[in-house]
Amino acid sequence: MTSPIKPPEGNWWDQTVNRRESIWLGLGVVWSLVLFGWMSIWTRTGDQNPIGETYQVSESEFREKMNAYEEAAEETEQGLVPEGTDVYMAGIRFAWDGAPVVLEAGTQYDFHLSSYDVQHGFSLRPEATLSKQINLQVLPGYEWVVPMTFDEPGTYHIICNEFCGEGHRSMHDTIIVTEEN
Ligand code: CUA
Repeated sequence: MTSPIKPPEGNWWDQTVNRRESIWLGLGVVWSLVLFGWMSIWTRTGDQNPIGETYQVSESEFREKMNAYEEAAEETEQGLVPEGTDVYMAGIRFAWDGAPVVLEAGTQYDFHLSSYDVQHGFSLRPEATLSKQINLQVLPGYEWVVPMTFDEPGTYHIICNEFCGEGHRSMHDTIIVTEEN
């Protein structure tokens, strides 16, 4: 079988590279180095980086904190109303311990996030705009304290975004945010 592509004629391998081609190659190399450096800088300084503090915590320690938090909180029909501005939430296959919770718009809360078993995803979406969301990961053995302020009152859905087993798709709960007092 013959190829439909004809080989170039002459000693094409032995000719000098056109100056313009060299310039474009050079620009390509420089630009790739710029992007490489930018990637490195951006992962350190970009605003996309997770905020807050993370601590190591055992499952039983976090359960104890959760129990103390739930005991101090007020139970209402809509959900728990925390005593202060600390909010505890833990993923467990296939539910969110500590939810539903009732919070106030405009107040900065410290969310203490952890997991009792495996890695879960913590996606928060306002019901009015489901395409808007933040995605965090909760890990067993770690307590992540994330400051959060809800600007708008409404219902926010907590959805697990990390495949964690058979009931993953039903791992859902809510945060009710009320008007600022
Ligand atoms: Cu928890 Cu998926």
